[in-house]
Amino acid sequence: MNVLVTGGAGYIGSHAVRALLRAGHSVTVLDDLSKGHRAAVDPGAEFIEGDAGDTVLVRRELAARRIEAVLHFAASIEVAESVADPLKYYRNNFSTAIRLLQAMREAGVQRLVFSSTAAVYGHPLTTPIPESHPRQPINPYGRSKMMTEMAIEDCAQAWGLGACVLRYFNVAGASPDATIGEDHEPESHLIPRILRSLAREGTGRVQIFGTDYPTPDGTCVRDYIHVEDLADAHVLALGGIEPGAVRVFNLGSESGFSVRQVVDACRKVTRTELRIDEQPRRPGDPAVLLASSREARETLGWAPRYSELETILSHAYAWHRANPDGFKKSRS
Ligand SMILES: NC(=O)c1ccc[n+]([C@@H]2O[C@H](COP(=O)([O-])OP(=O)(O)OC[C@H]3O[C@@H](n4cnc5c(N)ncnc54)[C@H](O)[C@@H]3O)[C@@H](O)[C@H]2O)c1
Repeated sequence: MNVLVTGGAGYIGSHAVRALLRAGHSVTVLDDLSKGHRAAVDPGAEFIEGDAGDTVLVRRELAARRIEAVLHFAASIEVAESVADPLKYYRNNFSTAIRLLQAMREAGVQRLVFSSTAAVYGHPLTTPIPESHPRQPINPYGRSKMMTEMAIEDCAQAWGLGACVLRYFNVAGASPDATIGEDHEPESHLIPRILRSLAREGTGRVQIFGTDYPTPDGTCVRDYIHVEDLADAHVLALGGIEPGAVRVFNLGSESGFSVRQVVDACRKVTRTELRIDEQPRRPGDPAVLLASSREARETLGWAPRYSELETILSHAYAWHRANPDGFKKSRS
């Protein structure tokens, strides 16, 4: 299939591009490089620098390249920033998606895979969280994704759009060959914060926010999914799109690890001591976030290859050690 990947120069998108190429798809990446990296885009893909919300550009490229499906990763992703600057999130996540959908409609492109998030669930009522759990996001980031999901549902009804909405839990890891990986600025995720500082400075200091949660060791419990397994799920989702229907899949590992367990596993994988700085809880952090991914396994036939936390960490650490400054270092 001819596929357009918005945000394909970003962390998850760049891994998905490789998975799509491996599966035999023809890939064009559209990224404005506001956060992504040109060097992360596989040379086997075409690259367009531009805004996914530029309806004229997108409509033209969809037609010229005979695009049959869009994978929409492009978004702003910082929860804290979304609280401070909500309009940025409604603009870049919701409004950009509306403009992209408009261009797809005008160009007759009827297939979409959309990057959504566990943040649409807010504080979960049940654990593990099934896809049928009510959407009740607690920040503008989650709301911008929920609103986009709703717009997609309405387009499916109105003009036969077929979509898979993928709700990711905590994504981590890197390509096992250490050539692409996570390089966010700022970096707010626990695992790359620890491993990047170890790779850069040889020492690590970890802030743990909240040690009095109702969990076995008092720290938050999260569900980590390897970025390569997530990328594979996109290829399966692309094949699983049904005209006029929106299918929703959680993507997580179904195993929960507390922040302290992650820190201990980082110590083990890197063989380095880490200093812990215990801080009060951050507002809005649920105690436990755990996916039920049964639907993706049973309906899409998704079978994660790297569920072990230590494998996720060792791939991520190999990436950070080979590229302590991320994509800034030019690689030949
Ligand atoms: N990283 C996670 O743990 C996680 C978890 C849940 C959901 N998600 C979702 O997955 C998607 C990808 O996340 P990521 O971690 O790879 O983020 P990322 O910042 O690494 O990638 C996003 C990419 O989109 C590009 N971009 C942003 N706005 C754009 C626009 N208007 N037009 C064109 N390009 C634009 C950026 O330059 C970047 O390359 C996002 O939609 C995010 O909300 C990520």
